[in-house]
Amino acid sequence: MKAIVNKKYGSPDILELREIARPEPKPNEILVRVLAASVNKADWHILNGKPFPVRVMSGLMKPKYQILGADIAGVVERIGAKVTQFRPGDEVYGDLSGSGFGGFAEYTITSEKFLSKKPSGFTYEQTAALPMAAVTALQGLRDKGRISPGDEVLINGASGGVGGFAIQIAKVFGANVTAVCSSQKATLAFEQGADSVIDYNKKDFTREGKPYDLILDIVGNHPIRSIDPVLKKGGSYVSCTFSPGAIFLGPWMSARGKIVTNLLASANQADLQFISKLAEEGKLDPVIQGTFTLDDVPDALKMMGGGSLFGKLVISV
Ligand SMILES: NC(=O)c1ccc[n+]([C@@H]2O[C@H](COP(=O)([O-])OP(=O)(O)OC[C@H]3O[C@@H](n4cnc5c(N)ncnc54)[C@H](OP(=O)(O)O)[C@@H]3O)[C@@H](O)[C@H]2O)c1
Repeated sequence: MKAIVNKKYGSPDILELREIARPEPKPNEILVRVLAASVNKADWHILNGKPFPVRVMSGLMKPKYQILGADIAGVVERIGAKVTQFRPGDEVYGDLSGSGFGGFAEYTITSEKFLSKKPSGFTYEQTAALPMAAVTALQGLRDKGRISPGDEVLINGASGGVGGFAIQIAKVFGANVTAVCSSQKATLAFEQGADSVIDYNKKDFTREGKPYDLILDIVGNHPIRSIDPVLKKGGSYVSCTFSPGAIFLGPWMSARGKIVTNLLASANQADLQFISKLAEEGKLDPVIQGTFTLDDVPDALKMMGGGSLFGKLVISV
């Protein structure tokens, strides 16, 4: 089978399209024929081995995961003897970050807990755009942020992969959503359901005086102290970018009746099923900025590393 292989840490230029052996599923594993994948910041960080702490998970000197790609959509090819939930031919999608990545390939192996049935009516490409970004938005808003109907929610970094889903999911939960993004992306943020938009080049939301019940921070460019005045008592600040301030100043903020926390999203079947349901109900519509072939994964990763995305980059395999 064809796969995009990374034998060392480095830029997208070190990636190679190789012919390698197709993996064999163990008794509790599933072999999936990948029909589409998508690119996430996680692929970018592991490819580069930066920031350095990612190497604790992905290998100190050389990458433990030599085929990247967390988000996949495809068809079950074979199942191990202990697999009960899926059958060959099932249309599935999932996030492989919990099972060693491997999505930038024609076939991949994972376990059933990281897969769900593909939402009906969605193409494989649309489906592959969903898993990691949508589940991150869901877990940030619902689990860490305890979102409630009528909440004033601010999403900092609302125009990227995670942010676009965060706007749509916050609206599903009945929140009033303020999206922070550049002016070029304001129209898209409104289309995704934002009630108001703050252009970060013109205004700093921490100085605007409006307090929020929940701030989902996907950028991490404001110190925790500056968040305090714009977080209501009882409100939550959820950082998607690992904020040391959330650890060190969290107790001080909780003494003030505010919750400050880091999110480390984790793939699971229940949340994928939740996302599928929203997709099938027409409540979640991925924005796809570009579609690439498997050979072009390095170009997709270069684009991801360049920043300023407004949607997901999808690989059609
Ligand atoms: N904690 C977790 O479990 C978890 C899971 C997934 C992702 N993440 C992290 O979440 C972050 C975003 O991921 P992503 O996939 O959404 O990336 P992305 O698609 O590249 O989006 C990043 C967005 O941030 C916007 N942005 C840049 N500077 C900004 C600023 N000063 N104020 C507001 N927005 C700004 C950019 O928009 P403009 O072009 O308008 O600047 C861009 O659209 C990454 O750091 C990733 O590692 C964390």
